[in-house]
Amino acid sequence: MAEERRMFLQNSWVWVRLAAVAALCYPLLRFVKFKVPKKPQLVKVEKLMKVGDVHLDQEFVLFRDESGIWAVSRICTHLGCRLNFSEQEHLLICPCHQSRFTTRGVRISGPAERNLPQFAVEKMSGENAKGYIVSL
Ligand code: FES
Repeated sequence: MAEERRMFLQNSWVWVRLAAVAALCYPLLRFVKFKVPKKPQLVKVEKLMKVGDVHLDQEFVLFRDESGIWAVSRICTHLGCRLNFSEQEHLLICPCHQSRFTTRGVRISGPAERNLPQFAVEKMSGENAKGYIVSL
C-alpha cells in the first residue's frame, strides 16, 4: 500500500514538473511565432510633378509620365546599395556593382537577379493638399 502511494506521488510529481515547463515555455514559443504585421510607412512628397519629372527620395524614386505616376524602390536588390538615376540613359543604376533597372523597376543587367519593388502612390486630397503619398 505504501509502495503504491509512493509510486503515485512520484508519477504526480513528474506530471506537475511537465506542466510547469509547458507553462513557462508557452509564452516564449508564442512570442517567437507571433509576428506583428508591418504597418506601411507613408511618405509625403509635397509637390506636384509634371510629366517627365523625377523625384529622388531616400527609399524610392517617383516618376511621372503621360500614363501616370509611380514609385519604385531605390534600394538595389543585389546587396542593398542606393540606386542613382541617370537622366541621360533614363535608367536606375547601382553605383556598387552596376546593376541597371528601367524606371519601372525591371532589371536589365548586372548581378541583381530581381526587379525593384514598386510602391503604391496616391495623390493627396483636400483643398490645400498638393503632392503625393507613397506607401512603403
Ligand atoms: S548592390 Fe547593386 S549591383 Fe550590387
